[in-house]
Amino acid sequence: MSTPNTQRVLSRIVRRLCERRGICVADLSEGWILRLTRGETVRHIHGYSFDLNGAATHAIACDKAATSDVLLDAGVARVEHRLFLHPEMARYVRHPGNWAGMLECFERCGRDVVIKDNTGTGGRDVFRARSLVAMEEAVLKLFSRGAAVALCPFVEVEQETRLVLLDGEVMAAYAKERQAVTGDGRRTVLELVAGRVAGEGLTADLGRYLASVDAEAAAVLGEVPRAGETRLLNWRHNLGQGASVRLIGVEMLRPHVGLALAAAKALNLRFGSVDVVSVGGKLMVLEVNSGVMMEALAGVTGGAALAEEVYGRALDAMFG
Ligand SMILES: Nc1ncnc2c1ncn2[C@@H]1O[C@H](COP(=O)(O)OP(=O)(O)O)[C@@H](O)[C@H]1O
Ligand SMILES: [Mg+2]
Repeated sequence: MSTPNTQRVLSRIVRRLCERRGICVADLSEGWILRLTRGETVRHIHGYSFDLNGAATHAIACDKAATSDVLLDAGVARVEHRLFLHPEMARYVRHPGNWAGMLECFERCGRDVVIKDNTGTGGRDVFRARSLVAMEEAVLKLFSRGAAVALCPFVEVEQETRLVLLDGEVMAAYAKERQAVTGDGRRTVLELVAGRVAGEGLTADLGRYLASVDAEAAAVLGEVPRAGETRLLNWRHNLGQGASVRLIGVEMLRPHVGLALAAAKALNLRFGSVDVVSVGGKLMVLEVNSGVMMEALAGVTGGAALAEEVYGRALDAMFG
């Protein structure tokens, strides 16, 4: 069972902060929308998006290929995302057909690509394809659900870091660390995971991983890693799929901060987060979010206070 919207960390923190500031909070749409009023001033929070970014900025951040184009134009290093539209879109836009472009992209990316819903979140519907048939399967699946997919080269991510920023300042940063097990040459990944649960109990992170297991992740569970080999349970870094939060002091991340602020400036983003990946020691922007979700962050030591500080500053910016 998922948590009701009114029980979200965001909702609980914002209520508390608003009470102190004399801001009145009303839940709309079962608590997914918060209407905040003080005197004549009305502001909204929709999901995790605050009334701080312009409509075009929000739309660009929600569109992975658009973000990639805007960052390229501004000279900000990013993982290229190329847009492919469902053929039905030919009624509305010039459409050369997808096959030639996809094949060209697949070859140019060394026959190793990631295909995703262009407006997706949470790592859902993000597929890696290392063969034409795998790419075709992913594309067909995505086009059965939506009108736009993004194709990008698969890059070997050494670390994925999220930087939360407000008005040109990075307020919080954390690494997303994927779940892994160490092989003993005998047990399957599933048995190793069960061993971890028996030892340390079912942590929130492992619980989120188990709840997210799909056919691809299930295939990994049957493998037997060699003794001493580290086996990732999921190649994606999404917290909703089991990755853990490791808070990092902003002062430790100077190059990341420079890149994240450049990305925010390029999109004219006031409040949001930038995901920076390190690939072969080089930093690149993977995605930009104009919503700030801190549900998992609030669960780690020091995270709840940080989430409260970030949301407090965002509220002050909205009512300033
Ligand atoms: N091009 C890529 N190369 C390697 N890993 C990727 C790539 N694109 C996405 N991923 C992995 O998939 C995860 C989800 O992709 P992302 O673009 O962030 O979508 P979402 O908005 O659903 O989180 C990332 O955290 C990363 O681990
Ligand atoms: Mg992501």
